[in-house]
Amino acid sequence: MTALTLSTSGAATLRADALVVGIAKGPKGPVVAAGAEAVDKAFDGKLASVLETLGASGGEGDLTKLPALSGLKTPLVVAVGLGPVPEKDETYPAEALRRAAGTAARALVGVKKAGFALPIASVEDAEAVAEGALLGAYNFTAYQDQADKDAKKVEAKLPLAEVALLGAKPRDKAFKAAAERAVALAEEINRARDLVNTPPNDLYPESFAAVAQAAAKEHGLKIQILDEKALVKGNYGGILGVGVGSAHGPRLVKISYTHSKAEKSLAYVGKGITYDSGGISLKPAGHNETMKCDMAGAAAVFAAVVAVARLGLKVNVTGWLALAENMPSGTATRPGDVLRMYSGKTVEVLNTDAEGRLVLADALTRASEENPDAIVDVATLTGAMMMALGSRTFGIMGNDESFRTAIHEIAEEVGEQSWPMPMPAELRKGMNSDTADIANMGERMGGGLVAGLFLQEFVGEDIAWAHLDIAGPAFHEAAPYGYTHKGGTGSSIRTLVKLAERTADGDLG
Ligand code: BES
Ligand code: MN
Ligand code: ZN
Repeated sequence: MTALTLSTSGAATLRADALVVGIAKGPKGPVVAAGAEAVDKAFDGKLASVLETLGASGGEGDLTKLPALSGLKTPLVVAVGLGPVPEKDETYPAEALRRAAGTAARALVGVKKAGFALPIASVEDAEAVAEGALLGAYNFTAYQDQADKDAKKVEAKLPLAEVALLGAKPRDKAFKAAAERAVALAEEINRARDLVNTPPNDLYPESFAAVAQAAAKEHGLKIQILDEKALVKGNYGGILGVGVGSAHGPRLVKISYTHSKAEKSLAYVGKGITYDSGGISLKPAGHNETMKCDMAGAAAVFAAVVAVARLGLKVNVTGWLALAENMPSGTATRPGDVLRMYSGKTVEVLNTDAEGRLVLADALTRASEENPDAIVDVATLTGAMMMALGSRTFGIMGNDESFRTAIHEIAEEVGEQSWPMPMPAELRKGMNSDTADIANMGERMGGGLVAGLFLQEFVGEDIAWAHLDIAGPAFHEAAPYGYTHKGGTGSSIRTLVKLAERTADGDLG
């Protein structure tokens, strides 16, 4: 894991392999941002024009590497774009800093130590740079170079080893706390990314549960793992119905963090389909290659609970991981089968590819039994949500408008793109079943909202509930940008952790 240090030296005196500075996009070309003064001086005050000559713009994603001249103790300067120059009296948006730091950290793969001298105007800015750098300094190489005897090749792929943050006051308590928070958050987000990226032949319900168990031990969390036998005994018909076709049996994991002075409790419920083939309603080729990502909700919930524990927040948070592998086989659930859910409701399975709502339904009912102050479920639930919002934005539904709005605002604050979605009541009748209480499929139009309506039926009355459909942002297939790599992203973890912080501070209902 990449180390984070708060540097006591300035940009001119820092000894490192590289120095990262910011440039903004001005009306007449790139503008050197605060923090880069020493570098500009080393370039005789001509850093901006040198960069412009090299084609730099200062826009988001822009990155230029320069050899450092005399006057610096680093051989390499990396200039990253921050986007537009802020208006007078304004500072750079935290997300611009986070992304710029991430872009730089990604470009510094194989490097030992880099100083980050980006424009930091507050503790929050320092944290954003630290977060972006630590998230950018990620590389999933577990399945590469296994047989490579050439150590140099392996080293070249290792993430940036040390991030030295400049401009943060190393002896100031607030800066120290921000740095610790950034490390805890980034490490847990990167852990969730690892889980999502791990191929499904190695990550299945049992092995996922074992990872959770090890983390629970490490961080003093309570954990309970229901295996197939326990699920049968407990009448978890939804989780069992999805998992019954696989050689790898399903699990329901309950992982809890409690604080002795907590006044509120939250339940986070994650969809953990370790592989979604579609089941008997098999997905066509082209739709199943990335379906190892279908446990990203459970990974996010798991990571958030561990991060909350590491931060020692004054709130109780229980994570529920609904784990199953959705496979076609002679024992698999058929379209037409009726499942008796944990809640007692019956569900006619019309499409075995609408499996996420089945495992979530059981977990939502179970989580409701403990009467938390609020429930948030996270799921790569529908392709329809991707159609609606694209691949970077998650949809938020729920039974409580102010809670839904609060989550949207929190997401915005932590730099996660989201949008509130409605749950139109008239879509419910599309799920009417001739045989059972409800079918697991409804109208095709508004498919993401139909799924939300289905889930709502399994949430306890009078509990504030929100549903995050992260099908779009959970897994990044396009070119990397900012701190976002290809593959698992860790979507929604920052939102879940901030929600827990807000709840701990008593800022929410
Ligand atoms: N896991 C998929 C949704 C998904 C699609 C996530 C693409 C990420 C990327 C989910 O289980 C699914 O298959 N949903 C179906 C539901 C339909 C059968 C009602 C869908 O969206 O097509
Ligand atoms: Mn599916
Ligand atoms: Zn799925």
